[in-house]
Amino acid sequence: MKVFQHVSDIGDLRKALDEAFEIKADRYKYQQLGKNKTAMLIFFNNSLRTRLSTQKAALNLGMNVIVLDVNQGAWKLETERGMIMESDKSEHLLEAIPVMGCYCDVIGVRSFATFESRKDDYEEKILQQFIKYSGRPVFFMESATVHPLQAFADLITIEEYKNKTLIEPNPLFGGKAISRTPSKRTKVVLTWAPHPKALPQAVPNSFAEWMNAADVDFVITHPKGYELDPEFAGNAPVEYDQMKAFENADFIYAKNWSCPGVTLPEDYGKVLGDYHEFADWTVSDRQMAVTNNAFFMHCLPVRRNMIVTDNVIEAPTSIVIPEAANREISATVVLKRMLESL
Ligand code: CP
Repeated sequence: MKVFQHVSDIGDLRKALDEAFEIKADRYKYQQLGKNKTAMLIFFNNSLRTRLSTQKAALNLGMNVIVLDVNQGAWKLETERGMIMESDKSEHLLEAIPVMGCYCDVIGVRSFATFESRKDDYEEKILQQFIKYSGRPVFFMESATVHPLQAFADLITIEEYKNKTLIEPNPLFGGKAISRTPSKRTKVVLTWAPHPKALPQAVPNSFAEWMNAADVDFVITHPKGYELDPEFAGNAPVEYDQMKAFENADFIYAKNWSCPGVTLPEDYGKVLGDYHEFADWTVSDRQMAVTNNAFFMHCLPVRRNMIVTDNVIEAPTSIVIPEAANREISATVVLKRMLESL
């Protein structure tokens, strides 16, 4: 695998899941594969889970790891070709990228949407330059439009939990054990939830793309105006009534995203209206009551009592921690595939 961006890059999902569970059972099985190989992780934006889980994945495979926070200690980078470089930006990305490629065997990059131009964001202007000029396999660690390491971890988590008939008390917060009857067809709901700031669409885009490819019934719910780009939403049904969408769901995946600008490009990256008016979209016991004792998921970090109430995120059905733990597994599979392609 030379690029990890879309669900299609991982190939057969059943095989990828089997590989994930093989690695989960013995995460050091491929320690020799990465001997004398170096993973470089480039961060243009903050991270906790991606940074730690991807480093751990590289170590699982016996790799060396170099991490660079571009905005802390590196030269400030110019990204536009043709600029007269008289500002505080001392180095151009067009030199920096091939130089980074000299010191490693695979590169992971995190570079969020800037919301300055929908075209630039959706064309993945920064990541495409890494693919073109680094000379190395490139994996996306959340870009302007996708977060495939997260979506793969989400799929692994759904696969692990979908047939559970007993939900144990939450290991951190307690609660009562619940018995549940899994649905014949697993129903997964992606729900928009309110947030004070404009957030990118990378997580919901990838989640939608991966769920559309998975063997589940997938429904998206959000207020009007937040329609995801059809490249990712595909033919997934959109239900504007959140309560109706939640009925009999097995998994609730909450996330905020700003306006994707599909119908009104001028609204791209905006929070539509006052988010306080959407307080009833916060995932609470009210909505969870109509589900099939659904598991609650979120990629984290999450704003409590904005996206989800304390009660829901602390319930035995909340699987946000195992979901985050599976980031190590998804990253190990991806790095393994990249090492095999060198
Ligand atoms: N979910 C996720 O990517 O977390 P970080 O932003 O902390 O890496």
